[in-house]
Amino acid sequence: MSALSKKSKDVIVLRPDMHLPRWESVLEDAAQAPTILIVDALDLNRRLLKAMLKTGSYRILEAKRPSAAFVILEREKVDLVVVDLMMPEMSGHDFCRLLKNDRKTQLIPILMITSVQGVENEVAGIESGADEFLMKPLMPTLVRTRIRSMLRNKALIDSLEEAETILFALAQSVEHRDRYTGLHCERLASYSISLGQALGLPRQDQLALYRGGYLHDIGKISIPDAILFKRGLLTDEEWQTMRLHTIRGEEICRPMKSLAPVMPIIRSHHERWDGSGYPDGLAGEEIPLLARILQVADIYDALTTARPYKPAFSHQHAIEIMNEEARRGWRDPELVPLFAEITQQAASPESAGGVSMQQSLENMRRELSK
Ligand SMILES: [Fe+2]
Repeated sequence: MSALSKKSKDVIVLRPDMHLPRWESVLEDAAQAPTILIVDALDLNRRLLKAMLKTGSYRILEAKRPSAAFVILEREKVDLVVVDLMMPEMSGHDFCRLLKNDRKTQLIPILMITSVQGVENEVAGIESGADEFLMKPLMPTLVRTRIRSMLRNKALIDSLEEAETILFALAQSVEHRDRYTGLHCERLASYSISLGQALGLPRQDQLALYRGGYLHDIGKISIPDAILFKRGLLTDEEWQTMRLHTIRGEEICRPMKSLAPVMPIIRSHHERWDGSGYPDGLAGEEIPLLARILQVADIYDALTTARPYKPAFSHQHAIEIMNEEARRGWRDPELVPLFAEITQQAASPESAGGVSMQQSLENMRRELSK
């Protein structure tokens, strides 16, 4: 019997005795020939470091000054930066700060080499974002051990990032199974972030909304096609199964600590303001705000796109239905009118010919990932 066993026609379960590759070996593979960038103004220092690292299998890049290092970081995948505290153009501390403030480079570990002793100097280094320090004169064994350990952590971070990328791909494949929803995830992310921005939410919440747009229905992967794509009404039992997608989604994403801000969206996006939703029957402001935002966006998108059972409604018609649902007590009574206002602006003839939804989402994504 294979490691994957079929529980039913549609659901594949993992058996506990299945053989998966050991994490360590996966990480070692991923860590093959890591790239180290040495930033130091002195040729002699760089040569010395290179000689110390000769025994390891590393790809070593060099920069004499920070500006040259930034050019390299822009075009190369760097796994570790070794930087001297004393540099031209800017101090090692300022260099670290710039790297750690840029989302593209913030996960690259930084080893700072210094000849300036003292607690104050070390505190300044930690505050600037350097991950480790080594005092001159450098001891070859210590340099090698420290670098190996930093690269091991980096490989672990890379593998987690990779896992997150896989989850996003999985979420999209769930959406694509339903050929009627098209760019549903992209539109949800775009509408939700617009509403989040109108509410003045911090960047971290906007990022959670962006991810929530893609991941909120990932639990549908565990729902049999016979229920997910059933034409006609679902039986009570089928509804019970369908509703489980919120909890299954949470279970799938829970191991990824970086997705913690998205979890309330995944679990609670089907709650209703009056407490009649699922899975927890939360009411009013008990329902996490981000989940309420995504829900409003989700309903608007469902109403304004064609589905097998209905045509695409106009903006005006969709908002009328949503206002009615808010009056009935299902939706957040403050979010619906605000969302109506935002989408009204986007749907107005004056905004026609402007940037497309995908373009504006791409702009938002770029802005959020800075
Ligand atoms: Fe859902």
